[in-house]
Parts: sequence; C-alpha cells; structure tokens
Amino acid sequence: MGFVVDRATMEMVCSAQFWRMALLWTLSLLFSYLGLLFPEPLSSLFPSLRPNPSYPRRGVSLNPSSELERPICVVTGATSGLGAAAARELAREGYHVVLAGRSCQLLSETMQKIKQQQSDACLDAFQVDLSSIHSVVKFESSLKQWLLDSNLHPSIQLLINNAGILAKSCRVTADGFDQMVQTNYIGAFVLTNILLPLLKNSPVPSRVVNVTSFTHRCVTFSASSVDVSKETLARKNLCFLPASKPYPFAWTYEYSKFCLLLLSYELHRQLYVLDPASSVSVIAADPGVVETSIMREVPPRLSRLAFMVLRLLNLLQSPDKGVSSVIDAALAPPDASGKYFFGGKGRTIRSSSLSYNSKLAEELWLASSLLFQETQHAVKDSETN
Ligand SMILES: NC(=O)c1ccc[n+]([C@@H]2O[C@H](COP(=O)([O-])OP(=O)(O)OC[C@H]3O[C@@H](n4cnc5c(N)ncnc54)[C@H](OP(=O)(O)O)[C@@H]3O)[C@@H](O)[C@H]2O)c1
Repeated sequence: MGFVVDRATMEMVCSAQFWRMALLWTLSLLFSYLGLLFPEPLSSLFPSLRPNPSYPRRGVSLNPSSELERPICVVTGATSGLGAAAARELAREGYHVVLAGRSCQLLSETMQKIKQQQSDACLDAFQVDLSSIHSVVKFESSLKQWLLDSNLHPSIQLLINNAGILAKSCRVTADGFDQMVQTNYIGAFVLTNILLPLLKNSPVPSRVVNVTSFTHRCVTFSASSVDVSKETLARKNLCFLPASKPYPFAWTYEYSKFCLLLLSYELHRQLYVLDPASSVSVIAADPGVVETSIMREVPPRLSRLAFMVLRLLNLLQSPDKGVSSVIDAALAPPDASGKYFFGGKGRTIRSSSLSYNSKLAEELWLASSLLFQETQHAVKDSETN
C-alpha cells in the first residue's frame, strides 16, 4: 500500500514558512530551555541566559468578611487546550472563573466538564470574539451588567489573555485586520484596555497574564528593522499580498506573540512601575510546546508528525502540565510583575533582548491605541448610519 500525500500537505512541506516553523521554532524552544539550565559562571558571557528567580504560588484567601466573596478571573479562549486547563485550575484555586469564548456550545460543554471534576467550581460563561472590536466592547458591558445584577463587587482580579490561533491562510476581519494579528494581539490589547478600570477598581492587587510563546525569539533583528507601525499592525502591506505570494503564517504568528510580549512589558512599566497605586501587575507566560488544537489548520498528517517528533525529544507536554507556567504567573506575588514565566515550578527566564526594548514597546502602544480609536470610531459611524 502506497503512502499517499495530499496536495495541502505537499504544499506546506514545500513552503519556506513550514521550514521556518520546523527549524527556527525548535531552536527558539531549545534556547528557552537553556535559559533554565545554563550554569551561573557562563551566564555573564550570555546575559540573555542569566538565571532568573523563581516565584512561589500564593494561595487565594477566601475571606468571608472581605468585600470579595471570591476573586474573579476572566480567561479568554477557555473552550480548549490551555484556556480550558487554566479555567479548571483557577476554579480549583478558589477563583470565580469567567470563561470567555466564541462558541456558546463549547463554553457550556467546558463548564460541564469542569463541574464534573469539581462540583463546587464557581463558573460563568460569556461569548466574545477577540477578532472583533465590537464583540469585545459588548463583552465588557455584559460583564459589568452581570457584576451589577449578581451583586458582586464592580471589579475583577485576574485577566488571562490566552485566546490565540495559528492561521494558515490570510483572512481579513470585519475590522479590516489580519485575523491572526487581531486575535493574538490586537484583541488582547483592546480587552485589557477596556477591562483596566475593573482591574484598577479591585480592593486587592489585581493582575494581567498574557500567554505568549517562545516563537517570539524568531523576531530577532535590530529594533530599527522591526516594524510596529500602525500600517504593519493593520497589515496594509502584508495581508493584502497578491494571491500569488504565500501568506507568511509562521512569521505572522511570531510577530503577534512578540507584540503581545512587548505589550506585557509596556503595561508593566505603565501600571506597576510608574503607577504603583494602581496595584495591577502584568506578567507574560510561555507554556512551551503543548498538545492542543493550536495546529488545527495544519494538515493533520503534519501536525501528528510534529507532535510525534516533539514527544520523542521529550519536549511535548499535555495541557495539564503546560498550563503550569500560566498558573504560576497568575498566582505569583506582585513583585513578579514584568517577568517571563517558563518551565513551570514558578521559574522565570529572560525573553529575547529585543523584547525588552522600551522604545519599541512605546511605539507599539501608541500605534495600537490609534488603531483602536480609529476602529471604534468606524464601528460607531457604521452603527449610526
Ligand atoms: N499549544 C502550544 O504549544 C502553545 C505554545 C505557546 C503558546 N501557545 C498559546 O497558548 C494559547 C492557547 O492556545 P492552545 O494551544 O490552547 O490552542 P487551542 O486549543 O487551539 O485553544 C485556543 C483557544 O482560543 C480560542 N480562540 C481562537 N480564536 C478566538 C477568537 N477570535 N475569539 C475568542 N477566542 C478565540 C479558541 O476558541 P474556539 O474553540 O472557538 O476556536 C480556543 O478556545 C494561544 O495564545 C497560543 O498561541 C500555545
């Protein structure tokens, strides 16, 4: 019996983006693991491999006399993989978990599964599509209304920006952005900004955790050659490539995760360093490689092969294990703000040198803010016309 390779698999294997993914992503992952292992004396030669501190997890204190019955946590992309695992773990830790996802059916199925394992889990679900600014704005008003109707304190304590995709083809959203950039970065930027008043209103310190990826390391050139302008973010020059040119899906994924990391450090500076009164800390979490549905657009033959090779190299984790860096980040003490959690056991490493470039982060912040404002105006205009 012959080994038949379908056209989609063949096309992917023949693309430069596939090899970028296979080689550069594996190297980036190994570099991150080196950050955990590198011995102290050699680290002075390679500052990016300097050992970083570990942070213990703080338990959630359920104090019946406090204004808060249970701290409230919003998890995006909670219907699958790492998001579902994070929702379950945080419910177990005592959070009232708000699961945010695109599909009502998947949301109720996920809640049921968590309830089967933990009957006293406190859960609620809201529909939100991170690739639509209108949907994110609607989510915020539903959340506020729910807090009011449920007689809960008008605040949230934790936001986990986890939703993400690895899109194989270029798709343009109703807001006019590349779908992968909007889901993985712009959606998280908008959601964090509009939920900030609720995070700042928390009577106890609150936190944002951004789920980024080791693939950010592939964006490694100098600050002057990385473009975080409004035009590139809006993908005016990439998403509208002529149909003859292949969509740079691996590059776009790396870029979106790099932007999310820059956003984490910029928010940390703005909220934790410059405005300590806000009591909002911001942490980036990198789960490593996890066997989830993230490769759903990759031909099944190739995703199975990739997972098989990663398993043989002992680099593939289950969602239960991979989520530990996200939970470490969620439960770390406030002074872990601005850190990059990787490898579980509360460990942190340094992300790429370029990700600490504060000028680039500021530029990205301004470009994202302008895009958000412009899109919001466009949405309002279309609603009034
Ligand atoms: N798996 C890995 O190896 C790995 C490594 C590093 C980082 N990460 C990051 O981890 C995060 C979680 O990914 P995963 O591995 O758990 O993948 P996954 O199983 O595919 O889960 C992704 C989740 O995001 C949701 N989502 C996608 N588009 C959305 C949108 N427009 N609005 C709202 N939700 C949306 C999905 O919802 P639907 O079910 O409705 O599609 C799903 O719940 C992602 O940000 C990913 O980049 C993953």
